[in-house]
Amino acid sequence: MNIAIDGPAGAGKSTIAKRAAKELGFIYVDTGAMYRAIAVYLIDNGVSAGDEAKVAEAIDDISIEIRYEDGAQQVYLNGDNVTGRLRTEEVGNMASKSSALPCVREKLLSIQRELAAKNDVVMDGRDIGTNILPNAELKIYLTASVEVRAQRRYDELVAKGEAGVDRDKIEQDIAARDKQDMERKAAPLKRADDAILVDSSDMGIEEVAAQIIRLANERK
Ligand code: DC
Repeated sequence: MNIAIDGPAGAGKSTIAKRAAKELGFIYVDTGAMYRAIAVYLIDNGVSAGDEAKVAEAIDDISIEIRYEDGAQQVYLNGDNVTGRLRTEEVGNMASKSSALPCVREKLLSIQRELAAKNDVVMDGRDIGTNILPNAELKIYLTASVEVRAQRRYDELVAKGEAGVDRDKIEQDIAARDKQDMERKAAPLKRADDAILVDSSDMGIEEVAAQIIRLANERK
């Protein structure tokens, strides 16, 4: 069975998808991590996302491999495990820009489809229900207001002990990321016609995960 969860940054997709996958005995596929791994390569090699020809050239030198270690997804970039480097703002911003390029999306499409063909998956991203897995048995479009998403991210960073966190700046970055992801030409973020809309602004993570698990069990 394939479950697709799409939605904007900070809606809680990964936490909820992970929780649902565990409960259902499926694997969790974090496609954002794959875009982030390509972003790491571009940053390390000084390639600008604005230079499409350079990115297209670099793409041929990139190998992305997904492995599961103790049930957790690990991303290997040219043989190195880069999972620990993926979740910074710098990498996220580069991933948002470079994921707009068709050559980058093309590179990851077959990896994502193959994982879903071979396994029961909960896959999250931006274009899973619309483009990668159009026949997924269950599609969820998970969103929340920009304010709520910014507050959650702020709380997360404060809890991690990061100094000098600026809530307004986080909100501006999230709004900019939404715009970039929704307005790009190649596979933009949008709700698939047959996706169930879930707004998590006033719902806890547990509640949303329980709803998705219930929907999945109904369709198994
Ligand atoms: O979900 P995330 O924040 O890890 O994703 C990082 C960026 O990757 C996001 O800004 C858009 C891009 N992305 C995408 O274009 N398609 C996906 N399926 C997943 C992520």
